[in-house]
Amino acid sequence: MNIQEMMNAAQPPVVYSREGKDCYYDPYRQKFAEATPEEIVMDKNTYSLLENYMLACMKDSAHDKDHIYRVLYNALDIAKTESHVNGDVLIAACLLHDIGRSTQAKDPKISHAQAGAKMAYDFLIEHNFEKEFALHVESCIMTHSYRKKNPPQTPEAKILFDADKLDVTGAIGIARTLMYKGDACEPMYSLRSDGTVSDGTEDQEPSFFQEYKFKLENIYSRFYTQRARDIARQRQETAAWFYNKLYNEVTASYENGQKILEEKLL
Ligand SMILES: [Fe+2]
Ligand SMILES: [Fe+2]
Repeated sequence: MNIQEMMNAAQPPVVYSREGKDCYYDPYRQKFAEATPEEIVMDKNTYSLLENYMLACMKDSAHDKDHIYRVLYNALDIAKTESHVNGDVLIAACLLHDIGRSTQAKDPKISHAQAGAKMAYDFLIEHNFEKEFALHVESCIMTHSYRKKNPPQTPEAKILFDADKLDVTGAIGIARTLMYKGDACEPMYSLRSDGTVSDGTEDQEPSFFQEYKFKLENIYSRFYTQRARDIARQRQETAAWFYNKLYNEVTASYENGQKILEEKLL
């Protein structure tokens, strides 16, 4: 009897109970997952296949392979405290969530979330993953982006969103944003019309201070999971401390220097 015949004979429920926990039938491997969805069951070959595709796609410094590994590790940490999480979907979505970055870099009008979701779906289908699995991964990637209105719906999508946003919190967030801004040749801050340094709050032009005020400072209220909220809270003070220090140093330099210059100029 082959697996399909065994399945048909058993007619299992999609979700069944084992030791008081919900277990599931894994349509991708076409066998009973002898694990709850919370337990990670992806085999190493599948992981390598997805990892290698990710490695071939990641180019820029703030969204490099190390960002992907941190997002994956954040997600695995968060998943331990959430229920009904499909570990396979979560790992695949984490590994592939930013593969559309280079498409967006070539054409900023294209959302990397949308481009990456399509690329991931095509890749998974091409490599004989189940359509249901590919669609789920696609939808997680589609909703991971901060700037997009469409919010994550499934547990896996919410965890990916939170895991990704954790990488813009604390010291990591500051370092990545500076790298990203430098790469885009954007300044650290803008000057107001009176020559003073803007703190970023009212800025229309992109800069590190503007990104801090518009995105980094506000990220802490955006999490879906308690575990991510807790990790973010531990990092928040460091980010605020760095921004305030930098702003004070720069402001003092301008105020002092401009006064001296005025005295020197005829
Ligand atoms: Fe992204
Ligand atoms: Fe990301």
